[in-house]
Amino acid sequence: MQLVYSKDELFSELTFAAPHEIEGRMLHGGLDPAGNYLSPRADGRVKAIDAWTEALQARGGDLFEADASLLSGPRVPNVAQQRLLIGEGIGQPFWNTLTTIGKIEGRGSILIDMQFPNLQDIIKEDISEMAIGHLNKGLLVAHGIDEGGVPGENVGAHDVMWFVTRDLAYGETNFPDVEPPENISRPESDKRWMPQIGAGYEGMMSFLMNLLMIEFRAENGFSDTQDILNTPTLFQDRRAQAELASEVVERIRADEKIHVLSLQLYLGELRSITIVGESGEEIPGADLIDPFWAGLVQWATSAQPVLLAEETQRQFTTLISAHEDGKRIMEQFNGLGDNY
Ligand SMILES: [Fe+2]
Ligand SMILES: [Fe+2]
Repeated sequence: MQLVYSKDELFSELTFAAPHEIEGRMLHGGLDPAGNYLSPRADGRVKAIDAWTEALQARGGDLFEADASLLSGPRVPNVAQQRLLIGEGIGQPFWNTLTTIGKIEGRGSILIDMQFPNLQDIIKEDISEMAIGHLNKGLLVAHGIDEGGVPGENVGAHDVMWFVTRDLAYGETNFPDVEPPENISRPESDKRWMPQIGAGYEGMMSFLMNLLMIEFRAENGFSDTQDILNTPTLFQDRRAQAELASEVVERIRADEKIHVLSLQLYLGELRSITIVGESGEEIPGADLIDPFWAGLVQWATSAQPVLLAEETQRQFTTLISAHEDGKRIMEQFNGLGDNY
């Protein structure tokens, strides 16, 4: 079984029968002969992920566990609330959401230039035949390109795919551009969670865990978006485009599966190896990963969604109140809300 891969192999493309092009925009990936979407850089990379996973399981480890419980927490607005607003002609919040997601995806290009410390320096086992031995050898760059594209190349990645989704549903609008919040990871301040290892290594592990959480929970936004776009009573004069927009989201989702699986693999490997601390002590990787992850789960699925819901509820109250029929819409909006 091949366990060492070159960058070229990790970047290799499946065989495309046709380019992936929508409304004149060239997008990443391609189509098979039946017109089905194929993810970009998914030939060697997917084979490698499968092989590393098999090897990890043969050593008694497994993919890092990430299940639907990570999706929990209230959401404002939820699908029903967003449908109500669009139906009432308040379409800008959903347009803002699509713009914001696109911009957050685009920030993923940070992975292209990020210099990660060499994990081998603090790991007892040889990691050259593991995924974590390939992070700086193409895996993280490929991930970054999936999100934000190759700089200077005119092939749209996830950022552009969200803007295409938005423009398919809305056409031209005069909504002002919006910017996402600066940081969507857990703010770590200066607290050290893994004092046994250098700050750079801790930063890398916490980065990978935050990224898995963000990638996994992004699924909420994907399915909500598709449910809204597929609502027959909305975007009435652009139904065909709205359905195509939902298909574009489905394609982004297909790509994200590779990201989630990769991160589950990296963290599963990190749990299974032995870390050598700064004072020379040997620490099972799980002893560093698991406590950090438990805290992150609490924050991301419970504390943070409530804070965000309260903040967004305030913003929507202001927005809806400005509508000439604001009182009625606000009552309906509240009646459809999640409990928290
Ligand atoms: Fe993405
Ligand atoms: Fe992703």
